[in-house]
Amino acid sequence: MFAVHLLAFYFTKLKEDQIKKVDRFLYHMRLSDETLLDIMARFQVEMEKGLGKDTNPTASVKMLPTFVRAIPDGSENGEFLSLDLGGSKFRVLKVQVSEEGKRNVQMESQFYPMPNEIIRGNGSELFDYVADCLADFMKTKDLQHKKLPLGFTFSFPCKQTKLEEGVLLSWTKKFKARGVQDTDVVSRLTRAMKKHKDLDVDILALVNDTVGTMMTCAYDDPYCEVGVIIGTGTNACYMEDMSNIDLVEGDEGRMCINTEWGAFGDDGALEDIRTEFDRELDLGSLNPGKQLFEKMISGLYLGELVRLILLKMAKAGLLFGGVKSSALHTKGKIETQHVAAMEKYKEGLGNTREILVDLGLEPSEADCIAVQHVCTIVSFRSANLCAAALAAILTRLRENKKLARLRTTVGMDGTLYKIHPQYPKRLHKVVRRLVPNCDVRFLLSESGSTKGAAMVTAVASRVQAQRKQIDEVLALFQLTREQLVGVQHKMRTELEYGLKRKTQALATVKMLPTYVCGMPDGTEKGKFLALDLGGTNFRVLLVKIRSGRRSVRMYNKIFAIPLEIMQGTGEELFDHIVQCIADFLDYMGLKGARLPLGFTFSFPCRQMSIDKGTLIGWTKGFKATDCEGEDVVDMLREAIKRRNEFDLDIVAVVNDTVGTMMTCGYEDPNCEIGLIAGTGSNMCYMEELRNIELVDGDEGKMCINTEWGGFGDNGCIDDIRTQYDKEVDEGSLNPGKQRYEKMTSGMYLGEIVRQILIDLTKQGLLFRGQISERLRTRGIFETKFLSQIESDRLALLQVRRILQQLGLDSTCEDSIVVKEVCGAVSRRAAQLCGAGLAAIVEKRREDQGLEHLKITVGVDGTLYKLHPHFSRVLQETVRALAPQSDVAFMLSEDGSGKGAALITAVAKRTQQSRKEN
Ligand code: BG6
Ligand code: BG6
Ligand code: GLC
Ligand code: GLC
Repeated sequence: MFAVHLLAFYFTKLKEDQIKKVDRFLYHMRLSDETLLDIMARFQVEMEKGLGKDTNPTASVKMLPTFVRAIPDGSENGEFLSLDLGGSKFRVLKVQVSEEGKRNVQMESQFYPMPNEIIRGNGSELFDYVADCLADFMKTKDLQHKKLPLGFTFSFPCKQTKLEEGVLLSWTKKFKARGVQDTDVVSRLTRAMKKHKDLDVDILALVNDTVGTMMTCAYDDPYCEVGVIIGTGTNACYMEDMSNIDLVEGDEGRMCINTEWGAFGDDGALEDIRTEFDRELDLGSLNPGKQLFEKMISGLYLGELVRLILLKMAKAGLLFGGVKSSALHTKGKIETQHVAAMEKYKEGLGNTREILVDLGLEPSEADCIAVQHVCTIVSFRSANLCAAALAAILTRLRENKKLARLRTTVGMDGTLYKIHPQYPKRLHKVVRRLVPNCDVRFLLSESGSTKGAAMVTAVASRVQAQRKQIDEVLALFQLTREQLVGVQHKMRTELEYGLKRKTQALATVKMLPTYVCGMPDGTEKGKFLALDLGGTNFRVLLVKIRSGRRSVRMYNKIFAIPLEIMQGTGEELFDHIVQCIADFLDYMGLKGARLPLGFTFSFPCRQMSIDKGTLIGWTKGFKATDCEGEDVVDMLREAIKRRNEFDLDIVAVVNDTVGTMMTCGYEDPNCEIGLIAGTGSNMCYMEELRNIELVDGDEGKMCINTEWGGFGDNGCIDDIRTQYDKEVDEGSLNPGKQRYEKMTSGMYLGEIVRQILIDLTKQGLLFRGQISERLRTRGIFETKFLSQIESDRLALLQVRRILQQLGLDSTCEDSIVVKEVCGAVSRRAAQLCGAGLAAIVEKRREDQGLEHLKITVGVDGTLYKLHPHFSRVLQETVRALAPQSDVAFMLSEDGSGKGAALITAVAKRTQQSRKEN
């Protein structure tokens, strides 16, 4: 009995002594809670640094956005392939996810070896090997003829700009294949897969193992918002608020951040914690100076740390009687599984002896106790460090949510965590101690990270299908060169029809003679009034032209024309106009002056002389009654008479295209085309009089107002009109009319966009499938909003803000789509307009029998002026379709009022000389 007691006492004493000895030797590895709280605070700072745009480049903890935005919601389904590369084992899997009321996931998998020659060989060979394994898997599982989406779990730090792309920042752990760093691993693998003709696989998602783990666990527990790996390497991810992620646009919702915490300390932040063993281990590793936190924690390094410590202790005579074996000298001889075995509760000491003997040592009882304690200190430090970093993440989550207490789940995986007998318990305990205000559930991922990767892939594949639907709609607006050439030729035909007496009556492009026969020559002079009606603004102007110096001074006032007047009676409209003139004269102190007046009236008018114009039909937003078929000059005169306050001498009525051409022609005599790309769309040009069958005379030229907006009214461009164009037409004031204008001008582009957005929303592709009242409202997308939305300088957030101002509650993804829709619609408009212009340019060149034509186009209109891309695309198209002409574009700075005044000046002079004769 006494002997037993004595033995027990002896053993306890021995144990105490050994433990004290080791504790003393490794005191630096034992971290107090105070130190852990300090490390936790340091990690919080690191996270902040990694998330900041300016601080990220120098941050050691990279906080990589993963483009995984939500945890699974149970609606995921489909069949997926999965690769799991980067942990201790390489696996290929097939995952079947089905809804069927309850969550159901079936997996079939196969492990493949990952030999060192491949891991550290040539990068291309690595990807070839992975593709070979995948091909083999597909063959064994008889999947060869299926096209399946693939989720790629790749457990290394990758910089992602989207889900299906990832540039390897650096290899970690055991991998060091050449020529992979800084390349996109998804395209590398895709390329390798292409070598297998029977492989038809689309990589839809690249995920880190932490992300896969979090998603796997979140499938079963929706509280899961953190994923931690403590395996070969160590790392964590968590759901961060988008508003805190500087590197990704948008501030709505959350995105998973792959912290890559293994690199914590790479900038020296943990030097006070690291020991001589950590430094020695690092120097002997594949990536010295890198992953310093990981090297104190993860499975790949724990055994080696223990070995280095034992060696040092043996050298110091503290172990094995100072004897060292050659195995103890050999790198990698002690592995994590040994550490785990030595720390087993009951068999631990026995295991320790066996392991040490296998290392060629002859350990005493005391040695075994000491070695076991070394293992405990090393693995405990690992758990402590992980706990500190995890506590920092949990605190961040709690603070993001502004909660006093956080209830959350952490998804866990990795061999160290799974096989080490004490590790999980220690980790949990320390975490709970460091963050007492968090109720944490630790959930072990039973099925690895691939289930989660499949969830991410499922969502990606849904997004891809939706993207396809969106692309199909946008494709309707992408015109081929052949289609544009077709438009150009048809326009040319219509132009000729409009000029011929026989076909004129039926022509859709009316080719109206304007009785403007020459360009200003600089001798014009005098004081004129001008009206400018039909564009965005109604203006009254006073224009003073001084001859000789080509100098013009203008004074103008903008007046509003209320909708009820635009669409009321003709009398009301003209009375309103006269009222505005009266106000202007008053304002200018010109009451009673009888000035000659030029009337820019931007609607199709049939003219028999310069001062007579019969309105053929309203276009754009006007619809006043009793005007069509009437002479607008007469209507204006009568309204002036009705007012009986002043008299005006109405000398000329001009279309805005003509006014614009004249305005520019005053500067550049080569300007023989006038183009408006504004509320409406139209063009005029100087035509040989001999070609104009409706007007007598063969000598000289006359300006023709083409009224090309009516192009297509006979159905000749119906092949390129979309259902959206038809809807816009049907909802307009003049259904069936001005079809080309409705595809090209500012008043309608926004409407086309709106119709597309309604359709996409109906298809569930936008605005969460909800068609709001605002979206149903006609005219919300004015040209100025389109122009803002498409501006390249605008960040997505600003686009979203504009949409929100328009009453459209959009997410960032919605904003991207809206911007694309706007882009497709305005690009087509510019191209169509360019094709029309090319038709006229080529006609002019051929009519003059020229090899090469040099001509200037005077342009005006808000679409041309405000839109960021319209003018460029228009010009490019003209250049492409009329390559033999040199077309210059001149923006009319002064509007068409100046041109109208110049025309009036010429007309007045002609009038006078006629009178004198
Ligand atoms: C596995 C996951 O369960 O754990 C892998 O499926 C992950 O994606 C691995 O990389 C991490 O643990 P270890 O110990 O294999 O590196
Ligand atoms: C103005 C001209 O500058 O542009 C008007 O003075 C013309 O005559 C107008 O109608 C066209 O552009 P918008 O965009 O105002 O229709
Ligand atoms: C390494 C990798 C990281 C991975 C971790 C666990 O730290 O850099 O991406 O998540 O190992 O496998
Ligand atoms: C409409 C009008 C036309 C005008 C154009 C630009 O197409 O019919 O006359 O030139 O808009 O304002």
